Amino acid sequence: MKIDKPVNKPVIVALDFPDTASALSLINRLDPELCRLKVGKELFTRTGPDFVRNLIKRDFDVFLDLKFHDIPNTVAGAVAAAADLGVWMVNVHAGGGRTMLEAARNALSEDSGTLLIAVTVLTSMGDEDLSELNVSATSAEQVMTLATLSRDYGLDGVVCSARETPMLRQSLGEDFLLVTPGIRPAGDSADDQKRVLTPSEAVRDGSDFLVIGRPVTQAEDPSSKLQQIMAEINGKK
Ligand code: C5P
Repeated sequence: MKIDKPVNKPVIVALDFPDTASALSLINRLDPELCRLKVGKELFTRTGPDFVRNLIKRDFDVFLDLKFHDIPNTVAGAVAAAADLGVWMVNVHAGGGRTMLEAARNALSEDSGTLLIAVTVLTSMGDEDLSELNVSATSAEQVMTLATLSRDYGLDGVVCSARETPMLRQSLGEDFLLVTPGIRPAGDSADDQKRVLTPSEAVRDGSDFLVIGRPVTQAEDPSSKLQQIMAEINGKK
């Protein structure tokens, strides 16, 4: 799916909730004109596809963050199932390799409304963790290798840390989507994130979509927090 840039709705709110009720109490206060939503493994495993259908029925674009990683045939089936569910974005692990990436890509029709992106190296993994896996590249080198592979095999983009955004934007060009977590509006707590950027810094460095959880989900007024974030991105603050 081709996305016009800069994207008009760059914030993806991470629904890191353990059940439908707590997720819905936030969603009832959010406007699908202002943000998209990310459903990850915990919420999906607890609430299932019907919950995702409910979000889509409420006009939200849903990023199904299940990070598929399996043999090509299985991943292709899972990606096709996500597209049938009507999600706007789905992801796979680039470490599944060329055949898996191609199978995932081919599982989506040319005019599919679903974006396919990849995870490269998890940001929880450092150079020492890679070396223990017998990967001699640094994490930055491995991110570049896996992101390049993802682009070359037709994926729409990658999830990457804010730290990796400038190098990926520079080498992979403008058409490749960069989706970045670890975002904190100026003055907000970093929580357990080690390196954070503000929304406008992330966009300046080349991020297309910002995954933002607690700054919005824990805000007293999530909707006005989102409006503040959008104003900051648009240089109005
Ligand atoms: O609450 P917070 O804004 O830190 O949430 C960030 C979201 O992005 C969470 O859903 C987290 O799992 C996800 N994420 C991340 N870092 C990564 C990949 C995903 O924080 N490298």
